[in-house]
Amino acid sequence: MFAQFTRKSLATTARTFSTSSQVRQNTKVAVLGAAGGIGQPLSLLLKCNTSISRLGVYDVANTPGVAADLSHINTPASLVHGKGDAELDKVLKDAEIVVIPAGVPRKPGQTRDDLFNTNAGIVRTLVEACAKNCPKALIAIITNPVNSTVPIAAEVLKKKGCYDPKRVFGVTTLDLVRSSTFIAEYIGANPIDLNIPVIGGHSGVTIIPITSQASQKVTFKSKEDLDKLTDRIQNAGTEVVKAKAGGGSATLSMAFAAARFTNSLIKGLHGEKNVVECAYVENEVCGVKYFSTPIVLGKGGVEKNLGLGELNDYEKGLLEKAIPELKKDIQKGEEFAKKG
Ligand code: NAD
Ligand code: LMR
Repeated sequence: MFAQFTRKSLATTARTFSTSSQVRQNTKVAVLGAAGGIGQPLSLLLKCNTSISRLGVYDVANTPGVAADLSHINTPASLVHGKGDAELDKVLKDAEIVVIPAGVPRKPGQTRDDLFNTNAGIVRTLVEACAKNCPKALIAIITNPVNSTVPIAAEVLKKKGCYDPKRVFGVTTLDLVRSSTFIAEYIGANPIDLNIPVIGGHSGVTIIPITSQASQKVTFKSKEDLDKLTDRIQNAGTEVVKAKAGGGSATLSMAFAAARFTNSLIKGLHGEKNVVECAYVENEVCGVKYFSTPIVLGKGGVEKNLGLGELNDYEKGLLEKAIPELKKDIQKGEEFAKKG
């Protein structure tokens, strides 16, 4: 039952994004970190989304140029831009969705956790501003390490008295996008029609592809092939970091993934049914405080958590390895936010 629902709905999500079917034309979205490697292509894709009536672009640098450039595109979204602390309030005022790709990316040899010391403070400051200007907004966090930055955001919002666990998301969509691509290549399918739920978190062993719940039957020729593909999905971020050789991490595929996730948030917000995405949110599905599973998106953010579904023994083994890592990452984020 769970698997069927997931199969059908995740597939619908991917198809709908690719055909730009829109549901409403008056959503206010803000991107924080909009001048960066992800921020710019993401802002471009959102400017092309005709469900958005106002697009806020904020960064500590270069946003006037990004906004001027985007504003010449003949789509309905008007641009509001801000640069530096003094202009953050203006960009966030009344935003319904805030997407956060602000922060430093990895260099070869670094882990996502190595970004914690810089990015934790950035996320804290930006989420404090969300609490002040748009306390009911859906907040989608891209900034790494996602396993820890989402707990930071939650603790900040709790302190400000406006935390709603249904409204704060760690964006893991890129892991689903990659799984579809790599596994479609392996089985000879069209990647746009293949959806694989990816659960857990967003780093190394915490990324758990659930091929047994794929939208099409996936058969591996050998256990070695399954191991190889699992490893590729879990370490795909590092593949890009290495290829960029010091030039950062995934930006274009991430912008694609974040635009898909934002579009799904918009659809849910405006009452479209059966909008399903995986995202890292607070829940109680498997004994860790934050965990990504397929969720139904609705008017208030998370409408229903679809849980783990049935896992095979291989997937149960992956889950076992992920849990201690996730617990450590979550604790680190929470301790940081509680101290600050
Ligand atoms: P980037 O360095 O190209 O861009 C980051 C932008 O953030 C820059 O423009 C910078 O000026 C801005 N910034 C820094 N501090 C800020 C602040 N206080 N307020 C507003 N903006 C600020 O980096 P990128 O490649 O765009 O990556 C951004 C983040 O996204 C990194 O942490 C990276 O690890 C993460 N990421 C996550 C995923 C995911 O799947 N969740 C995928 C790829 C990258
Ligand atoms: C990714 O998965 O590509 C991102 O989390 C960036 C990274 O550091 O790998």
